[in-house]
Amino acid sequence: MRKKIVAGNWKMNTTPAEGVELIKGVIAQKGEVCSCVNFIVAPPFTHLSEVVKVAKGSGIAVGAQNCAAEAKGAYTGEVSAKMIASLGVDYVILGHSERREYYGETSETLNKKMVQAYENNLIPIYCVGEKLEERESGKHFDVIRAQIEEVVFNLTPEQFSKLIIAYEPVWAIGTGKTATADQAQEVHAFIRKVLADKFGAAAADTAILYGGSCKPSNAAEIFSKEDVDGGLIGGASLVATDFINIGKGFSK
Ligand code: PGA
Repeated sequence: MRKKIVAGNWKMNTTPAEGVELIKGVIAQKGEVCSCVNFIVAPPFTHLSEVVKVAKGSGIAVGAQNCAAEAKGAYTGEVSAKMIASLGVDYVILGHSERREYYGETSETLNKKMVQAYENNLIPIYCVGEKLEERESGKHFDVIRAQIEEVVFNLTPEQFSKLIIAYEPVWAIGTGKTATADQAQEVHAFIRKVLADKFGAAAADTAILYGGSCKPSNAAEIFSKEDVDGGLIGGASLVATDFINIGKGFSK
C-alpha cells in the first residue's frame, strides 16, 4: 500500500509567530481527516525549529523547502542538510520549479542536494514538471523523463525506496489553473513507468504527489486517480482549514 500524503509548501510566507498559529490550526483540525493521511508541512528555515516543537506528537511531520548542495563551509547564506536534520525535521523539498527557475538549480546541483539529504536522513520530496510551452509543444513527457533520469536514477534502490515525487506542472503553480484529474493521472502513470523501468517493482510503492493550484474543491477528484497519492500544496496550505479540507479529499 502506498502512503497517502498531503504536504504543505509554505514558500516565503508567514513570520515565525504566524507559522506557529498555522500549525496549531492544522493540529486542532487534523482529527477531521482520515488517519490514513500523512500530513507534512514545510515552513521557512527561520521557524522550522518552532514548528517542529509544536508539531511534536501531533502526527504531522515537518520538512524544509531546500537544503545546501555542500556539507559545510564557506557558503554564505546556505543552510545544510545536517543543520536541518538536527532540528528534528524529516523531509526536504528538492527541485521545486521556483528553485530551478529563479535560482538556477540544475540536475547537477540537485544530485548534490540529494546526496546531502540522504546522508542526513532527510527524505527528499523531489519535484518535476513541465513549463507551459513544453506542454503545448508536446515535450512534457521528455522533460519529465529527463528530470527523473538525471537525478532519481542516481539513487541506490534503498534510497529510492524512501523517495517521494511531486509532479507540479509549472503552468498550474500559483496560477489557479489546475491540471485536470486525467492530465495528472496520465503524467503520474508515466512517471511510475519510468521509475519501474529502472527500479522495478519498487516503483509501485513510490508516493507521487500532484501539485499546482490544488485546493479543497478539486483535491478529492485528483486524489481519486490511481497513481495520485496526494498533493504538494502551496497557497492553500497557508489557511489551516483549506489544508485540512484538502486532506479530506481522501475519504475516511
Ligand atoms: P500552489 O503551489 O498550490 O500555490 O499552486 C504548489 C507548489 O508550488 O508546491
